[in-house]
Amino acid sequence: MTQIAGNASGARIVLDRVTKNYPGQPVSAVENFSMVAEPGELIMFVGPSGCGKTTTMKMINRIIEPTGGSISINGRDVLSLNPNELRRHIGYVIQQIGLFPHMTIAENIAVVPKLLGWTKAKTVERVEELLTTVQLDPAEFAHRYPKQLSGGQQQRVGVARALAADPPVMLMDEPFGATDPITREKLQAEFLRLQNTLGKTIIFVTHDFDEAVRLGDRIAVLSERSQIEQFDTPANILAAPANDYVASFIGHGAAIKRLGLIPVTEARLGPVSASAGGPISVSTADTLRDALDSLVLTGLTALTVVDARNKAVGSISVERISAALGSEIPALRTPRVEATSGEGRRL
Ligand SMILES: Nc1ncnc2c1ncn2[C@@H]1O[C@H](COP(=O)(O)OP(=O)(O)OP(=O)(O)O)[C@@H](O)[C@H]1O
Ligand SMILES: [Mg+2]
Repeated sequence: MTQIAGNASGARIVLDRVTKNYPGQPVSAVENFSMVAEPGELIMFVGPSGCGKTTTMKMINRIIEPTGGSISINGRDVLSLNPNELRRHIGYVIQQIGLFPHMTIAENIAVVPKLLGWTKAKTVERVEELLTTVQLDPAEFAHRYPKQLSGGQQQRVGVARALAADPPVMLMDEPFGATDPITREKLQAEFLRLQNTLGKTIIFVTHDFDEAVRLGDRIAVLSERSQIEQFDTPANILAAPANDYVASFIGHGAAIKRLGLIPVTEARLGPVSASAGGPISVSTADTLRDALDSLVLTGLTALTVVDARNKAVGSISVERISAALGSEIPALRTPRVEATSGEGRRL
């Protein structure tokens, strides 16, 4: 079907020393950027405004032509492919949504299928399927125009449009940027559920470190000229930021953020008898952050942990949560020499 789609739903993307110099600019927007994204990986780019995130992303589908370096998708050199053909196989959600205002929602989603010459029946079916996937009722929304939708609804359509032709690669530039925190959290949860079934290779840009932690398999923390300060899993970055720059991005509360990534079952649970019982319990499906939240809320020293069938399997306390956090990284158990810069404690 395509030059870059393999059998797997995701593709391997390799960027090797990719550079972009915009004409007339004294410094490069992106300099020697190298990264490998494995099939099915969700990679987050986090960095300040103007550091080169969008430029890096747009070189992958050649909306921007690199000045140097090479990019390949599933072993195919992207620079040797026809750019229009290439773009039809890379889903792209642009910063600020960018739906076509004069087209209905259905027409917006059908843009790439139309370019690929799909039949009308197949296209209509796909549009309905995608609207349902992003939880917009096709009967209600297919024939509306973008301005008749809320910002969050428009963002869902943007995601549906990018998914239309089932591309192996998705580039998403702050896709949930324009929404309030509650809508954003809902979109994130939907998106994670979707990605669990689709397994695409996704590059996802965000300003929001918490969003990166929540969604990403790996996070690339970028600084000026798209320099990679750290590229690792959310848990590793939170536990051991590579430098002060990365630490400043994490902000306060790194330990609390890490707790949100660790299941309750990772802790050494205490005996059931250690908790007083009562109506509030913690589920084995919860994270240590959920457990801490319940402990703080109830003021109890220990809470019962129950499994999916509501059977008590143990108890959890603040001490046990701390122990689980500390035992993840052995180095953290030895006291750290206080930094001289006065930047404060990170954990
Ligand atoms: N067409 C262009 N011509 C010249 N300079 C550009 C052009 N597009 C972007 N730049 C510059 O390149 C740098 C990187 O821009 P880019 O859009 O990639 O940043 P970004 O990380 O996506 O920022 P934001 O978070 O604000 O979207 C910036 O300094 C920007 O001013
Ligand atoms: Mg940008």
